[in-house]
Amino acid sequence: MPQITFLLPDGRALPCEAGDAPTVMHLAIRHDLPGLPAECGGQLACATCMVDVAEEWRGRVPAAGPDEHDMIEDTIGSVPEGRRLCCQIAVTPELDGLVVRVPERQG
Ligand code: FES
Repeated sequence: MPQITFLLPDGRALPCEAGDAPTVMHLAIRHDLPGLPAECGGQLACATCMVDVAEEWRGRVPAAGPDEHDMIEDTIGSVPEGRRLCCQIAVTPELDGLVVRVPERQG
């Protein structure tokens, strides 16, 4: 069962067992994490589920698709290295140990 760690804006690190969560966003919602409202529920329509993938994980997480990339750019004006919409990151066994940082603001 993959474990994914969320680094929160207040400095806390929260390791979460993914269980059967289909995406990183679903896992965050299940743990009621602050700063990650995911308002559209994973429909790629809100950009309120942004995270920054830890540098050491950027080559191992499947890349963002063009719609995800455009939504981030439209929301914050650029796409910082590692920035993702976590509703678009499927939880797989290969992501065991993944670390993502929740940004200070979602837009
Ligand atoms: S939850 Fe809305 S875009 Fe990810």
